[in-house]
Amino acid sequence: MDFSGSHILSIDQFNRSDINALFSAAEALEPYATRKKLTRVLEGAILSNMFFEPSTRTRISFGSAFNRLGGAVRETAEMSSSSLAKGESLADTAQVLSGYSDIIVMRHPENGSVDEFAKASKVPVINGGDGSNEHPTQALLDLYTIKKELIQNNKTLEGLRIALVGDLKYGRAVHSLCKILSLYEDITINLVSPNELTLPKKYISNSKIQINESESIEEGVSEVDIIYMTRIQEERFKTVNEANRYKGLLSLSKEIYTANCEPNTVIMHPLPRDSRKESNEINADLFDNPNLAIFRQADNGVVIRMALFALVLDVLDQVKDTSRKVNWKTTKNI
Ligand code: CP
Repeated sequence: MDFSGSHILSIDQFNRSDINALFSAAEALEPYATRKKLTRVLEGAILSNMFFEPSTRTRISFGSAFNRLGGAVRETAEMSSSSLAKGESLADTAQVLSGYSDIIVMRHPENGSVDEFAKASKVPVINGGDGSNEHPTQALLDLYTIKKELIQNNKTLEGLRIALVGDLKYGRAVHSLCKILSLYEDITINLVSPNELTLPKKYISNSKIQINESESIEEGVSEVDIIYMTRIQEERFKTVNEANRYKGLLSLSKEIYTANCEPNTVIMHPLPRDSRKESNEINADLFDNPNLAIFRQADNGVVIRMALFALVLDVLDQVKDTSRKVNWKTTKNI
């Protein structure tokens, strides 16, 4: 893919060489993402960060990524505070916002809405999650995290064994993750979900991937390198009562982990995890397990999104021109 000036709407746009290019850019930008160095390469540029569904990580990490590159961010954090609530079309909103900004990130509750919006936009649009369909930048940061965590255990993506656990029907993060894993061959995916919430098969396009399906978390998490837990996507069900039927069925505890997993099995979750006691996807007795990578995973959202901005706005080779050391200190003084 030619990143420069492109919309980023789906993992379908990526091949392995694109992912390698993105991950190399992310590695080059790590010192800027981790506040060791400062760059103003996007000074004067404006990101419109349009979130028409709740978000903590995606919205703030996109905003932080743009700010870390020196750009400014304008935000909408809910449908009711935009003119979509007055019946304005996505196409009109796109025409207007693309006159105000250099790039747009959008999250919206309808499948396909970000594609529709992008068709009318004069500037690049990045999909921050469209309904239960896709969350491509989550998959990119997830794969980056998987690679980094595997390296710690002297492993690579070759031969990866991963368990995807929870609501695989509505979880857009697992949909995009399955698409990205479909670019690799020697992969085993254990799909663990209630029978009514299985993964739509269209999200795995590579027939060479070994798929195992189960409703049992004990069975699904054994002999894997990565466990990827997910939340029941309550907002996609007709009623909360319907969603409640599935909460708590697939919860990972220290007992299950110790009895079934290998010593280095990494635990991931795209977050938010539902910490209410009836859900509790990851039990509190695992919180101090060093293999719990959920916050390292969330941190990687900033550097991957910086890399995407740098490639789409074509400034990667100019980052160093404005580079300097940071002049503040954020370390907590306990
Ligand atoms: N992982 C993720 O999309 O989190 P948010 O909903 O908080 O953005």
